[in-house]
Amino acid sequence: MNNSVSSGTYIRNIGYGLRRKLADFLDPQERWKDVIVSIRKPSGELKYSQHHVRRFEGLVAQGKSPTVELLNDWGTTNSTVGDLVDILKSHKLLAAACVLLPEEEVVPAEPQRASPAAETYSALPTRLLEETETQPSPAGCGLQTQILMGSCESDYTGCSSFLYNELMRITGNFDNRPVSDGGNRLGEGGFGTVYKGLLNDKPVAVKKLNPMEDVSLDELRVQFNQEVQTLQVLKHENLVDMVGFSCDGQHPCLVYPLMANGSLLDRLACLERSPPLSWRQRCLIAEGTAKGLEYLHSNHHVHRDVKSANILLDERFVAKISDFGLTRASAKRTSTTMMTERIVGTRAYMAPEALRGEITPKSDVFSFGVVLLEILSGLPPADENREPQLLVEMMYDIEDEDEDLTFEDFLDKKMGDLEMSQVESIYSLACNCLLDRKNRRPVIKQVLLEIKGVVKSISLDFKV
Ligand SMILES: Nc1ncnc2c1ncn2[C@@H]1O[C@H](COP(=O)(O)OP(=O)(O)OP(=O)(O)O)[C@@H](O)[C@H]1O
Ligand SMILES: [Mg+2]
Repeated sequence: MNNSVSSGTYIRNIGYGLRRKLADFLDPQERWKDVIVSIRKPSGELKYSQHHVRRFEGLVAQGKSPTVELLNDWGTTNSTVGDLVDILKSHKLLAAACVLLPEEEVVPAEPQRASPAAETYSALPTRLLEETETQPSPAGCGLQTQILMGSCESDYTGCSSFLYNELMRITGNFDNRPVSDGGNRLGEGGFGTVYKGLLNDKPVAVKKLNPMEDVSLDELRVQFNQEVQTLQVLKHENLVDMVGFSCDGQHPCLVYPLMANGSLLDRLACLERSPPLSWRQRCLIAEGTAKGLEYLHSNHHVHRDVKSANILLDERFVAKISDFGLTRASAKRTSTTMMTERIVGTRAYMAPEALRGEITPKSDVFSFGVVLLEILSGLPPADENREPQLLVEMMYDIEDEDEDLTFEDFLDKKMGDLEMSQVESIYSLACNCLLDRKNRRPVIKQVLLEIKGVVKSISLDFKV
């Protein structure tokens, strides 16, 4: 448990689970470097040199977490959690500090050295902060509350803190009728319901999080903080951005830009009579998604819930990966413990090792392989009225000479512009991504390279 450590706990006694959680915050964007350059010996001199920093950097190539390795090394001294939390606070890494001491009452310390991240944050504006501060405190206190309520100015800038009431107003009191029936509901997922709203004339999607059987409201709030902080750091053309959040009401809410063309899942199914995606569009979506994943992986993030419902499409059909903060913050959501229809759906994307609880970027590659099969076939990843039910099993049938299913049957007939050699390339890439043994699957960089090759041949065709 998080609260099993106190300020006086030695670093070496921080459990592995907690070390991993810290790594989730400090590995991305190399925020561990802010920590390492602030660690001092009892004599006052810096403990680690640039040479040491490079040595920790080099561990990434071996698939190791620099944060975990740093804690292992630092743990050989008598330094304590209190020392680490002081450093984290001085760099405004409050969510990471909260992981260690969720209940501690703190005021962020003055930075010892302005980190690049802190500089970026403080340069950006914050809306509605004053109003938020006048709201009653949410459950929980101390550092956790500070992150929820007070630290917006320095940490969440670049996205805004909204009042729950304002989000209620712009979504017609969270009108549960579907948008197609004149209501505001865009969809529903494992964490809550998503509503459409207009914020200063800009269309947004508001995700209202619901506490669930296995996640208490307090736990959800901590995870919510993690999501907000993660989204502040990871920025890429192919990742959904965040407009803001609200944490003063009954439900924590996250606000994203509205993706005009909904999810890839819905567009492949031509929901609400949307026209079928062309082969070219599908390849560009695959390429965009692979670019987003490559960015996540190169920043030491495993998405854990790659699926076509989490690939959103903007007005130009540019792919934007969503839910990369939330899903990692709640491993329970994607585990086999919840056998709801939704989770069974998610299981259709899960690599064998992910089903056993192992977390590796290669599981995202597997899930992406399933998305490629969806793109090729236009079929949902799982369908209980189909034999076989899972799309992955259809791939086994195509490979199996004794089965009737052919590759041509499998392809989506709604694509007018497909070019067989390109389709075959993507299919063989999907098969590689879907190999049972994770070490045989390509890394996402390789996947992206191959998709780029196909996209290039389409562009050449276009010029003719
Ligand atoms: N920013 C957005 N713009 C437009 N539609 C969105 C946006 N975010 C979500 N949606 C819609 O709401 C649906 C529900 O999203 P949500 O993320 O809650 O669930 P999910 O992706 O189906 O499952 P999971 O909870 O595992 O992510 C999506 O499938 C999509 O259709
Ligand atoms: Mg989602």
